[in-house]
This record gives sequence, structure tokens and C-alpha cells, in this order.
Amino acid sequence: MKKIYFDFAATTPMRKEVLEAMKPYFQKKFGNPSSLHFFGQEALKAIDESREKIKNILNTDFLREIIFTSSATESNNLAIKGIIFYYYFLKKIKPHLIVSSIEHPSILEVISDLIDLGLIEVTYLKPEKDSLIDPQKVKDNIKENTILVTIHYVNSELGTIQKIPEISKLIQEVNQLRKEKIYFHTDAAQASLENLDVKNLGVDLMTLSSHKIYGPKGIALLYVKKGTPLLRIISGSQQEYSLRAGTEAVPLIVGFAKALELISQEKEQIRNHLKEIRGYFLNKTKELPEKILINTPLENSSLKFLNLYFPTKTSQELMLYLDSQGIAVSSGTACQSRANEPSYVVYDVYGKERSERSLRFSFGRETKKEEVDYLFNCLKKFI
Ligand SMILES: Cc1ncc(COP(=O)(O)O)c(C=O)c1O
Repeated sequence: MKKIYFDFAATTPMRKEVLEAMKPYFQKKFGNPSSLHFFGQEALKAIDESREKIKNILNTDFLREIIFTSSATESNNLAIKGIIFYYYFLKKIKPHLIVSSIEHPSILEVISDLIDLGLIEVTYLKPEKDSLIDPQKVKDNIKENTILVTIHYVNSELGTIQKIPEISKLIQEVNQLRKEKIYFHTDAAQASLENLDVKNLGVDLMTLSSHKIYGPKGIALLYVKKGTPLLRIISGSQQEYSLRAGTEAVPLIVGFAKALELISQEKEQIRNHLKEIRGYFLNKTKELPEKILINTPLENSSLKFLNLYFPTKTSQELMLYLDSQGIAVSSGTACQSRANEPSYVVYDVYGKERSERSLRFSFGRETKKEEVDYLFNCLKKFI
């Protein structure tokens, strides 16, 4: 049976070039970067070079603004808990936080835990009809004790690109008028094809993940702008500028930097390919016997995504059928779809009925038109 993958938002296959770059650091160059001898220094050099590459791509001012972690989930935990713990425990302020209701669970669950512990006040912003978070509403909801705003860059289910520079501008306007700064974090785990220049975006904290960009699993980063107060959540030795202890995963860091370098160099090429694939896919929907509605805002979304509503079939029916035909798709973020729950993002934008009958297709650099043809032949039979 054919095996076709339309779930590149869940994860991506690692590139050959990435594996090749990583290989020496598993065996021959296996040193611990904290060791003073040659083996250690060789490993440390690999980390330094990787961090330097990433610094240039993200346009950060300092190497120490890039903190390697194990996952986007960990980066989000460090960003939010790090700031909240600092204000709650050291400054004795109960912080207020503004977040959207359509963040990834690695943001929403961190916040829910902090609420349960009584450490924060939270305002949840609902998306507008176009699935955008209104920047003005961020500003309007700022309170005296607001310390952190966290809004994702690209939505993991719809692909919507949020207005990060605009939100940043409004926060900075408020910051100019007050003593206690409001920090701005964005989860950019799905934004590898967008502009990742932290200065253009105007963020203080940014999460990026390796396995979404053809790098290895088990490695991610948090950009932490100089001066951002953060308490570490993993204590130990002094790795990662004392913000995240534990011997560095040298091969994974090397692989992550290589993957980011490749995707940055090939961004235009990949975007062109995805544009063509998404256009072709959309045309094909017209061949189906029922009218499919598009949940993804086409004019303002990552080209990787297409979230569609199928009026006569549930997400589960569609997913199970397609799986039986060797086609991998998803109804939402990977962890949520494992639980077989309807997409909470589609729910918040379009309501219950639509959330139960929608599917997320996500494309990659290797997606082919023939794969789209095969999918539609299957869909035509099923619907
Ligand atoms: C926007 C976003 N943030 C965070 C994550 C979590 O990534 P990981 O499971 O690799 O920690 C994902 C994964 O789907 C995501 O899409």
C-alpha cells in the first residue's frame, strides 16, 4: 500500500545533510562540552558554531540570548514559568498574563497549572472571525500588573499568521508609559517559513523547534532578549548560561543549527513549491461531490497548512478512512488528535459543528501532486 504523509505540521523527516552533520558527534567527537581537555573543547566548539549560525539567522545581539532546550514544550515552559516565578517569588507581585485561547497546549496547560497554583491572573483572548488575534484587544486588556503577553506566531491547526510586529508595537507604546515592563513571548514552532528576525518581530522571547524543520527531535531553543528576567526551571550546573542545566545534546544542537540553516537558505524555493501544491490541492476540492469549506485564511497563513471542513463526514471518520488508504492527516495538534477530540482552535473560530468535521492537511518540501491526486481519488470514493 502507498504511504502518503500530509502531516508535516506534526513533525518532519530529518534531512540527510542534517544526519551527516550530526554523525561525528555521536562517536568520534563525543566529548562533554564542559570538559577542559581536547575532547570537551571540540564539542564546545561545535555548540559555539551552531549557536553562532542561529544567532545570525534570528538576528539576535548576543550568543547568550539563545538557550537550547529539549523541545518547544520545554521552551514555552521556561519562557512562561521563568518570568512568572521571577515576579511572583522575587518581586512579590501576582502577575497578570495575556494569552490567546488558540495557543498550543504547551502554552495553555502551563498557564492552567499556574492558575491552579494561584500564581497568576490571566486574560484569554478569543480569535476574531478570520482566526486572528486583534492586536488592539491585546492593548485594551493590559492591566497594571500585566507582565507577560504570549501569542503564537503561526497557528498550529489553521496556519494563521498572527500580527506579531503589530502586537509588539502596541505593547511598546504602553511600556514607554510605565515602570514595570511588559514582556512579549511568541511560540514560533510552526513559523519556520516566515521571517524569524527577532528585531523585526519585536519579541523578548521566542520558541523554535527542530523537528518541525527537518531537524532531529529532542532539541529546541528559547530566544531570551538580554535583560529579560527569567528564573530557571531546571537547576544544576552552569550549562546554557545557567538558564538550563544538563550536559548539552551536542549532536542534536549541531543538527538543529544545520536544519535551520538549510531551511533559511531554501525558504523561497520551499515557499514556491508549497504555494503550487496548496493551489493544486484547493482546485482539486472542486472535484468532490460536496462543497468543502476552507478554515485556513488563505491570504494570511503559512503555505504549509490547509484546514478544511467536510460537511457530511466527521474528522474521525475521515481520518480513519484515509489511514486505511495509507494517507496520514490530522484533525489538529498531534497530542489532541491522539485523544480524538475535535479541534479546539476550529471550535473557537467556527463553532462546535465545524470543529467536529474538519481536517488539517499540512505539506512539506517533498509533497507531490501525484500524492494529492491519490488523496482525492480516495476522498471521492468515500464522500
Ligand atoms: C505551535 C507549537 N508549539 C509547541 C509545540 C510543541 O512541540 P514539541 O511537542 O516538539 O515540544 C508544537 C507542536 O506541535 C506546536 O505546533
